[in-house]
Amino acid sequence: MLAIVKVANLVTISIGIILFCPSFQSSPPAEAIRSTSFSIISQKNSVPHLQFSYRKSVPFNNGENNKCLSSTFSSNSLMMINHGHHPMQLAVCNPSLIHLVMTLDTQFLRGTVAAVNSILQNAFCPQNIFFHFVHSDSDHHLQTLIRDIFPSLNFKAYYFNPETVQNKISSTIRETLEQPLNYARNYLAHLLEPCVERVIYLDSDVVLVDDISKLWRTSLGPATLGSPEYCHANFTKYFTPNFWSQKKFSRVFSGRKPCYFNTGVMVIDLVKWRKFKYTKMIERWMEIQRNQRIYDLGSLPPFLLVFAGEMAPIDHRWNQHGLGGDNLSGNCRQLHPGPVSLLHWSGKGKPWIRLDSGKPCPLDIIWSQYDLYGQSL
Ligand SMILES: *[C@@H]1O[C@H](CO)[C@@H](O)[C@H](O)[C@H]1NC(C)=O
Ligand SMILES: *[C@@H]1O[C@H](CO)[C@@H](O)[C@H](O)[C@H]1NC(C)=O
Repeated sequence: MLAIVKVANLVTISIGIILFCPSFQSSPPAEAIRSTSFSIISQKNSVPHLQFSYRKSVPFNNGENNKCLSSTFSSNSLMMINHGHHPMQLAVCNPSLIHLVMTLDTQFLRGTVAAVNSILQNAFCPQNIFFHFVHSDSDHHLQTLIRDIFPSLNFKAYYFNPETVQNKISSTIRETLEQPLNYARNYLAHLLEPCVERVIYLDSDVVLVDDISKLWRTSLGPATLGSPEYCHANFTKYFTPNFWSQKKFSRVFSGRKPCYFNTGVMVIDLVKWRKFKYTKMIERWMEIQRNQRIYDLGSLPPFLLVFAGEMAPIDHRWNQHGLGGDNLSGNCRQLHPGPVSLLHWSGKGKPWIRLDSGKPCPLDIIWSQYDLYGQSL
C-alpha cells in the first residue's frame, strides 16, 4: 500500500516537473553537440575511443521576479563581468551567488551533467548559481564539454592533484571508493577562491527536484557542516573492532551522540572550516588508517570521525539516498517516507547504466528526464 502511495507521489512530482517547467513541454529540437574533437581513452573497460555525444541544455533564466534581480544586482553591479555574448555571467566573488561544488571526471560525467541540468531547471534564479568543478584531468576536454552543453553557465574548474592523497589512501575492498577525486571534498576550503564562504557539495549521482536556494539558506547554527543524519543506522559498523577496542581512538566520540550521515550532500561553512583546520584533522585520521585499519570504507569514515554528532542536521528531503541499491541491477529501491527534494543513487547501481541496459528501476525514469546524453539527432 505504502509503495503505491510512493509511486503516486512520484508521478505527481513528474507531472509537476512537466507542468511547471515550460522547458519540458515544448523543448525545441535539442541542438546536438557532436564533439568530434572529444574522444577519450576509457579508463575501466577496453573501448579505446569513446565518443561522447551530448545535447545542449535548454536555456535557463532567472524568474520574472524582483527577488532574483535584487539579490543579483543590489550588492555590487561592478562585480558583473562580461563574457562577450554572455553578459549575465557573474564573477565568483559576487556575494549573492549560490556556490555548488561537484567533481568532474569521465566515469561520472553523465551523472554530473544530469545533476547540473536538474539544478538549473528547478531553480527559480538559476543565473545566481555558480558551479565549482573539481577535476584531476590534465587537459581541458571536460570543461570544454560543460561549456558546450551549458553555454551560459557560471562555473570555474579547479585542478585537484591526486598526489595530494595518494600516499594517504589505504587499499580497501571497494576500489571505486578509493578514487583520489573522492577525497577532494576534504580540500574545498583550500582549492576554492578564498572569497567563497559557504558551499553545497553534491555527489555526481543525484538529481534535484526542488529549488537549490532552499538548501542554500539552511541555517547551520554553530556547526561547520550540515547534512541529513541517520540516527537509526548502526553506527558501530562503520569502524573496525580494532577501532572500538582502543580507547585512544574510540574516545573521539565521548560526549558526542554520533549518527551516520552521507557525504554526498553537505552544506559547508568554509570560513569555519579554514579557521578550525578540519582538513588537517581529517588527514590525521587517514594517516592512522594507513597503519591501523580502523575502518573499511574510503573517504566517508574520516568525516564521521570529525563531524558525526557535531553537525547541523538537515531535512532528510535533501538526501533520498541509496537508490543505486546493493547490486548493479535488479535491486530497485524505493524512496524513504517523507517529502523529496533530492534523489541520490548512492550504492552500486547507477541510473544511466540501468537505462542503457534496458532494465531501469522505476525511479530511474525521474533521473532520465534530466539526462542530456544521447546520440546526436
Ligand atoms: C551493529 O553492528 C555491529 C558490527 O557490525 C554488530 O556487532 C552489532 O550487533 C550491530 N548492532 C545492532 C543493534 O544491530
Ligand atoms: C545481489 O547480488 C548477490 C550476488 O550476485 C546476490 O546474492 C543477492 O541475492 C543480490 N541481491 C538482490 C537484492 O538482488
